[in-house]
Amino acid sequence: MSPQATKDLFRQAWARFPTGIAVITFRQADGAIHGLTANAVCSVSLNPLLVLVCVDHNSRSYPMLMAASRFVMNFLAQGQEDISRFFASRDAKGHPPFRFRRTLHGDPILEGSVASLDAAITERNIAGDHTIFIARVEEIDLTDVPPLVFHTGKYSAVAPPIHTD
Ligand SMILES: Cc1cc2nc3c(=O)[nH]c(=O)nc-3n(C[C@H](O)[C@H](O)[C@H](O)COP(=O)(O)O)c2cc1C
Repeated sequence: MSPQATKDLFRQAWARFPTGIAVITFRQADGAIHGLTANAVCSVSLNPLLVLVCVDHNSRSYPMLMAASRFVMNFLAQGQEDISRFFASRDAKGHPPFRFRRTLHGDPILEGSVASLDAAITERNIAGDHTIFIARVEEIDLTDVPPLVFHTGKYSAVAPPIHTD
């Protein structure tokens, strides 16, 4: 029989699942820019274009996102590990290791990302100790740089393709 599910086994199982890394950037009510490193992100729907991000109720970002109407989902590139660490830290110190530019909606895009999706929040659904923020994508910015990968708690790169034909 398989072992009983625990928080620790749950964490270990998900650590074995490689993901990209997103930074969710948004404007606060006073115009200040905030960001959150997140890999619990997903494409939801093509018609309409929807994405989701799951946000921890204990994060500082949670009440800020509850008050926000839009966010940008930036997929990080190889070499942006310092940006991931910066936005995963509650009390980031020193000079921020990133530059922003603005979307047509005036939202902050992280320079050098693989892709950035500017989206309007349409739903907030509580799920356990997280809230799922669903948003309709209105602007998309693409580059062709290689992505950053997260696996077994470490930053990594995409391996060469496996040829099966
Ligand atoms: C690779 C990685 C992925 C993460 N994914 C998420 C996530 O999907 N949702 C979330 O709420 N926090 C996630 N975190 C944790 C937040 O980035 C972290 O709690 C951060 O301190 C929150 O900052 P804040 O308190 O300023 O909001 C992740 C952290 C890392 C390093």
